[in-house]
Parts: sequence; C-alpha cells; structure tokens
Amino acid sequence: MTTDDLERWRTEFPILASTVYMISNSLGAMPRRTAESLAEYAHTWATRGVRAWEERWWEMAREVGDKVGRVIGAPAGSVSMHENVTTAAMVALACVRPRPERNRIVCLAADFPSLIYFYRAQEVLGFDLTVVPADPDFVVPLDRLLDAIDGRTAFVSFSHVLFKTSYIMDAAAVVARAHDRGALVLLDGYQSAGIIPLDVTALGVDFFAGGCLKWLCGGPGTAFLYTRPDLLRTAQPRFTGWFSHRSPFTFDTGPVDPRGDAMRMMNGTPSIPAYYAALPGLEIIAAVGLDRIRARSKQLTARVFALAERHGFPSIATRDPERLAGTVAVNPPDALQVSRALKARDFVVDFRPGVGIRISPHFYNTVDEIDRLMVEMARIVEHRDYAADATVRSVVT
Ligand SMILES: Cc1ncc(COP(=O)(O)O)c(C=O)c1O
Repeated sequence: MTTDDLERWRTEFPILASTVYMISNSLGAMPRRTAESLAEYAHTWATRGVRAWEERWWEMAREVGDKVGRVIGAPAGSVSMHENVTTAAMVALACVRPRPERNRIVCLAADFPSLIYFYRAQEVLGFDLTVVPADPDFVVPLDRLLDAIDGRTAFVSFSHVLFKTSYIMDAAAVVARAHDRGALVLLDGYQSAGIIPLDVTALGVDFFAGGCLKWLCGGPGTAFLYTRPDLLRTAQPRFTGWFSHRSPFTFDTGPVDPRGDAMRMMNGTPSIPAYYAALPGLEIIAAVGLDRIRARSKQLTARVFALAERHGFPSIATRDPERLAGTVAVNPPDALQVSRALKARDFVVDFRPGVGIRISPHFYNTVDEIDRLMVEMARIVEHRDYAADATVRSVVT
C-alpha cells in the first residue's frame, strides 16, 4: 500500500478540503456521492411515489444489511437494519426471556452509557444487571469480565472497542466463556466496524450491533444487527412488527409468520432516507478494504503518540498497536477548552471526560494533517489560546 493510493479518496469527501477532520469516532466525513444518493431518494419519492416500496424500498433494509455484512464478515441475509444501536440491543434482548435461575445481563462500565441505561431499565422485567467495573484507565481487564459470567448469565453485552480509550477487547475469549456458561453474546461494534478488520462469523458472536454514522461514513439513522444464522432461524423477538412478517400485506392479525432472513428481526416502517445516505460510505469502505484501512490507521495513530510524547501530552491509550483501534485520546491541560479552540479553527476532534481529546483519523487522513493538528494543539496549550474561543459551544463537545 502506498500513501498515494489512499489519498486519491480524499476528493470523495468534501469536508477534507477545508477541515482537518479527525472525528470518525463520532461522525465520519460525508462522501460526495451521498448528496447524489439522497437526491435519488427525493427523485424516487417525487416520481414513483408509493410504487417505490415495491420497486426497492420494502427490501432496502435487506440490501443495506447485506452491504454491511460484507464489511463485518456476515453472510447475506443475516444483518437487519435499525435506527440506532440501543434499538438493535433491544431487538437482541427481546429474544431472551429472564428466568429466575438465568436472568443476569453482564455489561461493562466502559460501555457506551446508552446501553447501560437500557439494560438497567430491563430489571423491571426480572433481569438482573451486572456492570463490570473498569480500571482508572477506563479499560476493563479481560479476567474481570470472564469472572462475571456464570451459570446465571443469560446475556453478555460488551463493546468490541471501548469508546473512550479505543481499546480492543478480546471478543473471542468472552464469547467462548459465555457460550460455555450457556449465555448469548451481543458485541457492540460501533467503534470497530469500518476501522478494524472484522469477521463476526469467525468470532462466533450471537449478535453484533453497530451503526453507519461513524467509521462507515453513512450518517445518522442507520444502525444494524447481525444475528447468527442458526439463531435467526428460530429467533422470536418480543419487539416485532409487520416488516418481520412473511406476508405483511395479508394484514392478518394472528401471530407473525416470520421471515427466514434477518428482516425477521425488524418491526415497523424503516427510515428509508437514512439508507440512501448510508450506501455510498459502505461502498467506499468495502472498496478501500479493511486491511488497508487498518494499516493506514496504525500509521496515523503511531504518529499521534510520537507527537503527543514530543509535546509532553499524556495519553492513557494502550501503546500496543494490536489492542488499539482508531482513536488516540491525548490529555493536554484544559483539554476541553483546547478541543473547542481546535474545532473553531477547523481541526475537528472531540473531548471525553477523563481521557481528554479524542483524535480519530480515518483512511482519508494524512500524516501531514496529524502534524498540523498537533502543532496547533501545542500552540493553543502554550499560549492558553482559548479565551477567544470560549463562546464556541456545541452539544458534541
Ligand atoms: C460503542 C458505542 N456504542 C453505542 C453508541 C451509540 O449508540 P446509539 O446508536 O444507540 O446512539 C456509541 C456512540 O458513540 C458508541 O461509541
């Protein structure tokens, strides 16, 4: 792989012309073709009207799910589409019934809080939640997670890549323990899909959830759920609806006659425009290839570490490149203000409490951009040059 090979993709992402964009952990850059794809959506609706459902839209979740499947190593027909990962987790957990002797959900304190909120809310149904604590560096040691999985565990849900530290958990070891104890596993791959090579089939997970808006450059509104094909044949999610029905247009009010593919895991009318938005990013990620993306990512994250060290900025991120995914968090003094000052100057990064500024280069970023970002960060820190930017506020800090 040469650097130039990947740099030719830069023109596909308009924001790169004006911005050092390193926030793919949050919202990946929009591909140029996304505007065309959304225009196609509008044109279809305008000219075909309701006929669009039978011409493409009804099966579009399946179409997009299969494209996701190619990126995560899932076979055709095993990935369903949902609005967000919390909803995808709801669908997966809706396949599990708590029994007094097997009612435990195990997740991590380092998981994305939305999932923890959701699992805690399920205790009213008879589930019992164990949140495995993290160390001060926000990583959960593997043994601590393995020890938390016992014969009462029904459902283990954990992040493949921890969102604050980008630490890659040993998913295969957790799956082996969970299956040995008779529990199902949902792997949250939001911070792994699109930035590290993945093979959900080889990992043996029961469910794998993720979304398109971060490393898959697909915009908000499109998340996915892989269900292990043999589980899919019998899964009966309590959260269901007419899109999962084999013959939805009979409008039969008896029990659902479920489809045999991943659309069995769906429920009501899906968000069609979000699918149009997601397709170009999925196609680009598949065309570039996860091995090349990972190689470039390792080169760029290593450069961040080198420059952070040169400037004396601490980082709690692991130095083991095999355990680090796409993000390096660096923690200069007044990191929140520094991150805002950077953003105001078109160096787009974010801040998370405890870890500092998350820098998330993707395959379309360059070493030169890392160098410019770190020089700017050092300048802002040295001159405490953020008072002027104090008015910059946003929901995504
Ligand atoms: C690991 C992880 N899971 C889940 C989410 C978001 O979940 P949802 O799609 O439900 O908003 C994020 C968002 O940052 C995340 O990093």
